[in-house]
Amino acid sequence: MAVTYDFAGKTAIVTGGSRGIGRAVAAHLARSGADVWIWDADPVPADGIRNQTVDVTKAGDIKAALTEIVAGTGRIDILVNNAGYLGPYHGFETFDPAEWQRIIGVNLLGTFEVTHQVLPVMRQAGRGRIVNMGSLAGKEGLPNLAAYSAASAGVIAFTKALSREVCDTGIRVNCVAPGPIDTDLIRRLGNKVVSDMIGASPLKRLGAVDEVAALVLWLCSDASSFNTGAVFDMSGGRARY
Ligand SMILES: NC(=O)c1ccc[n+]([C@@H]2O[C@H](COP(=O)([O-])OP(=O)(O)OC[C@H]3O[C@@H](n4cnc5c(N)ncnc54)[C@H](O)[C@@H]3O)[C@@H](O)[C@H]2O)c1
Repeated sequence: MAVTYDFAGKTAIVTGGSRGIGRAVAAHLARSGADVWIWDADPVPADGIRNQTVDVTKAGDIKAALTEIVAGTGRIDILVNNAGYLGPYHGFETFDPAEWQRIIGVNLLGTFEVTHQVLPVMRQAGRGRIVNMGSLAGKEGLPNLAAYSAASAGVIAFTKALSREVCDTGIRVNCVAPGPIDTDLIRRLGNKVVSDMIGASPLKRLGAVDEVAALVLWLCSDASSFNTGAVFDMSGGRARY
């Protein structure tokens, strides 16, 4: 059952919104009336949504894109920090340092950089919603995904810290921590890894992007007003705490 919200008049940015979870979030926000801008390093056109080519690790890309949006609308109501890079799936001892730099760069430092630039616009308005995409890996620490787990744990701690820094405003900052969701990011790991992940899940399936989007939309809405600094599992029962 689809729950609907009225985001008419709200401006939203979804990073990594061209594929997977971000694409679903952007589509649902647009369908609910929001003026949605996707910031993706490799953008794909989507109906009723504007794309800007933004690599979240590049401060200059973010600044140029933000300047264009603010010049037009003067506001950012919703920021979904979703752009992510999983990296290779293997043991830490054979990890290439260039890969862990990229994983931390996109998932954690990208979230910092985007938030650092967007937050002043929200603070000026005194309100807003920030949803950071973490991961089950950041809570549990998954073998063969050490750097990704560390980046995601950083996103979770960042969410908690930042939420407290802005709690005297109407800005709410929360995190969603999905387990395996059916996107290219997971499918790239190959059938064996994916079926092992399904086997480890109490619900015995991958999550769907629309299921994650439903939670994100609620967190972006006025219906979620007493939640901030919280981490919401979306793991089919796999998360243990
Ligand atoms: N799919 C899952 O099982 C799962 C589980 C837990 C967490 N997550 C998190 O959810 C988010 C979305 O994952 P997904 O599965 O939809 O991934 P995906 O690979 O399907 O899509 C990721 C999107 O991010 C974009 N992107 C990558 N690097 C970027 C950069 N530097 N700047 C801007 N855009 C960039 C890609 O172009 C792509 O459009 C990620 O943060 C991921 O870590 C996913």
